[in-house]
Amino acid sequence: MKAMIRDVAKHVGEEITIGCWLANKRSSGKIAFLQLRDGSGFMQGVVVKETVGEDLFKTAKGLTQESSLWVTGVIKSDGERTALGHEMEITSIEIIHEAIDYPITPKAHGTDFLMDNRHLWLRSKRQHAVMVVRNELIRATYEFFNQEGFIKVDPPILTGSAPEGTTELFQTKYFDEDAYLSQSGQLYMEAAAMALGKVFSFGPTFRAEKSKTRRHLIEFWMMEPEMAFYDHEMNLEVQENYVSHLVQSALKNCKAELELLGRDLTVLETIQAPFPRVRYTEAIDMLKEQGFDDIEFGDDFGAPHETAIANSFARPVFITHWPKAIKPFYMKEDPENPGFVLCDDLIAPEGYGEIVGGSQREEDYDKLLADMKEHNLDETGAYKWYLETRKYGSVPHSGFGLGLERTVAWITGVEHVRETIPFPRLLNRLYP
Ligand code: 4AD
Ligand code: MG
Repeated sequence: MKAMIRDVAKHVGEEITIGCWLANKRSSGKIAFLQLRDGSGFMQGVVVKETVGEDLFKTAKGLTQESSLWVTGVIKSDGERTALGHEMEITSIEIIHEAIDYPITPKAHGTDFLMDNRHLWLRSKRQHAVMVVRNELIRATYEFFNQEGFIKVDPPILTGSAPEGTTELFQTKYFDEDAYLSQSGQLYMEAAAMALGKVFSFGPTFRAEKSKTRRHLIEFWMMEPEMAFYDHEMNLEVQENYVSHLVQSALKNCKAELELLGRDLTVLETIQAPFPRVRYTEAIDMLKEQGFDDIEFGDDFGAPHETAIANSFARPVFITHWPKAIKPFYMKEDPENPGFVLCDDLIAPEGYGEIVGGSQREEDYDKLLADMKEHNLDETGAYKWYLETRKYGSVPHSGFGLGLERTVAWITGVEHVRETIPFPRLLNRLYP
């Protein structure tokens, strides 16, 4: 019977066949231990010379790393000895394809080498674990928003508008017109919220940022919820509940993967709503108290500033009410605090930086028009449709964007976002 490694617990005492690859192996004169992987998991296979005979034992000993195999054997429960608690007593091995000189050996390799071999590196235990956690966060996202009555809406990738400013756009030709790769679906999600109430998207976004940091990708995936009739405070509540749900889902469903990655689970267990809230002006004071002389009121925060503020809290922290001058045009001005906008950056603990950016949106036609003019956005051309959403039954509404890769990095404890997406697009890297 064919089976997968993830299901071996159901087959204790039975003989099964798995399609797999050889991840690693060690052997003596009498016994060979094969580390097998089939995509669904990793398992140890044992080949005992005395039981299987000379020929099969010789085959097992000669297997090369990453050769593909049909392996048949009997599943034994081994108590707690291996991660899965099971191993296979191998009775036959059929080589599907022999791999010669697989470049990623069990010894250590440099980052550039691993990145050049990303198509192969993905097969490693660590990378497998990170991808499983990434998948869990995607699953938990759909679960959360479906439970909360949101409808999934897919904004376009090829667009004529630039919500986050024009400096970081990938431009392309759209027949005779100019188009851009989406840097955020937000403006379309706002229109969709007026049709469907509460909506969310999950898709790729692009930023031609010349940043080479552990938090920046050129192509990354964003979750963008947008809610009609939600104000700033309600927006923060959705964010903290959603992020808590992501962390708790990963803990519940990916414990083995997080442990393999060496993540401290007790830290993650404390991540529960509500999250602390700090106003931008308070954050500036905190930084000055901590001796940051390089920051002035009106400045955006760099990574060291975000980390310093995050370190004051065990949970992610909202930095709210930023100066209007340094935020995008669509954010609603705080009626109680002119010059500031009703927005938030959610900063993850442990130096992982901003994982969410959100705001209440300006719903007033005249104010939005004035903001657009200030930002030189063409209200008669590419942004006409967006302005019209404020013309016909405009309502208070809010939304946010969560960057998937930064969230995966934080939850898995992986140092750099390049390991949190299957094929990262980085500054100077379009390969593989
Ligand atoms: O703060 P940002 O730019 O917000 C927006 O795009 C809003 N329009 C979202 C919305 O309100 N619908 O980006 C949102 C998040 C950031 O907090 C960060 O997690 C992630 O997207 N992000 C990046 N992740 C990886 N690499 C980059 N270059 C990123 N830029 C932003
Ligand atoms: Mg932001």
